[in-house]
Amino acid sequence: MSWQTKPSSTTKIPRRAEPYCSDAMKARWTKDLLPRYATKQGALLPILHDLQHEYRHIPYQAMLEVAQFLSITPAEVMDTVTFYEEFHTEPVGQCVIGICQSIACEVCGHQKLLDHVRNRLGLEPHETTDDGRFTLLALECLGSCDTAPVALFNETLHENLTIEKVDRLIDEAAKGGGGHH
Ligand code: FES
Repeated sequence: MSWQTKPSSTTKIPRRAEPYCSDAMKARWTKDLLPRYATKQGALLPILHDLQHEYRHIPYQAMLEVAQFLSITPAEVMDTVTFYEEFHTEPVGQCVIGICQSIACEVCGHQKLLDHVRNRLGLEPHETTDDGRFTLLALECLGSCDTAPVALFNETLHENLTIEKVDRLIDEAAKGGGGHH
């Protein structure tokens, strides 16, 4: 997600009694993830991925819990969360549509696709529909310039897109066939 500026000294972190990093999750991370990395910090990305998958975002409270679990600072966790497009601090929809807006896709008509999705779903980039179904993102180069224009529907890359293909993908996702990440 994009960088945010906020008055961190006065920001209140909403808290819930139940931890986001459950005992079961921590046990799994300890068993499956930590042994794979030389430092505990190495496990940060897969842990964040797990949390994003589970909660559709990474709440601030969860970042504190992860910091504690890995014995690193909350700032290190937050830096990572805000650096990567795949992590969100607000809940995203069940289907996240990420349209590439970098140069090759731009030349191949990404704007037409973006406008179509904006109109069809009534969303601007970084917004989520009220029913929680769809989030629209405009992303930087997805590394598939030779098959532009491309977009991610959750974690699946779709290439050589046309408005018809995008409509089909949205229809499938609306029926629940889009899967989620
Ligand atoms: S510019 Fe879109 S994939 Fe590279």
